[in-house]
Amino acid sequence: MTTKRTPFIAGNWKMYKTIAEARQLVSEMIPSLQGVSGVEKVLCPPFPDLLAVKAILEGTEIGLGAQNMHWESAGAFTGEVSPVMLAELCQYVILGHSERRAYFGETDETVNRKVKAAIAHGLIPIMCIGETLQENEAGTTQQVLEKQIMGGLVDVTLPEATQPGEVNFIVAYEPVWAIGTGKAATSQGANAVVSDIIRPTLAKIFGSQIAEAVRVLYGGSVKASNASEFFKQSDIDGALVGGASLKVEEFAPIVQAAAG
Ligand code: PGA
Repeated sequence: MTTKRTPFIAGNWKMYKTIAEARQLVSEMIPSLQGVSGVEKVLCPPFPDLLAVKAILEGTEIGLGAQNMHWESAGAFTGEVSPVMLAELCQYVILGHSERRAYFGETDETVNRKVKAAIAHGLIPIMCIGETLQENEAGTTQQVLEKQIMGGLVDVTLPEATQPGEVNFIVAYEPVWAIGTGKAATSQGANAVVSDIIRPTLAKIFGSQIAEAVRVLYGGSVKASNASEFFKQSDIDGALVGGASLKVEEFAPIVQAAAG
């Protein structure tokens, strides 16, 4: 990879894999992911799988993340999972995924509450942003992304990482039209969005030093065959992988491409 930041690859399993299936998949993944150095690797299975996957990942360098979270620590919120509960299980949490924004009413305001709560409980947020096809075609990508970044990061102070020059906060740029469609953005196009829109917006909020320290991932139809194109780009620090993270033969080469 050409990025100066530590490459980061996360697998978003979405609503796939029972506990038994998760155990099997993770056991198959470990041998091919373990040996790949210089890349942070994180698996994000559904909530019911977290405990089982955590046990299997014990002693490996593979991190664990959740796919969503409520912002309150506890309370009468039927069906929700709190940051306190997640902090016992995993280190990362995906927040504001476009599927949650589209189907579960998430807004920049709820994403903001979740980002703040995650950081307060020592979880590392992977905050997702991205424009829809309609917004892209209307030429409003910049406004949409700026609004999502500014809105998601109101009153947020980013925690410093142990790695010098990095922060414990990750952005995933996932154009909605590229998710699960097989139609990925072009690598140059995605890189331009990161360097011309995402980092400058982060710089407006936090200053340029922090904007340069945030890892920004690309997500949307990343697979073994196109991953290295994205990783050649100087401003893309890795990938948030959906469908291809459910198959060892797809996910392992993506992780290897990030190391190369
Ligand atoms: P995809 O999903 O890789 O299946 O397009 C990416 C995501 O939704 O995070």
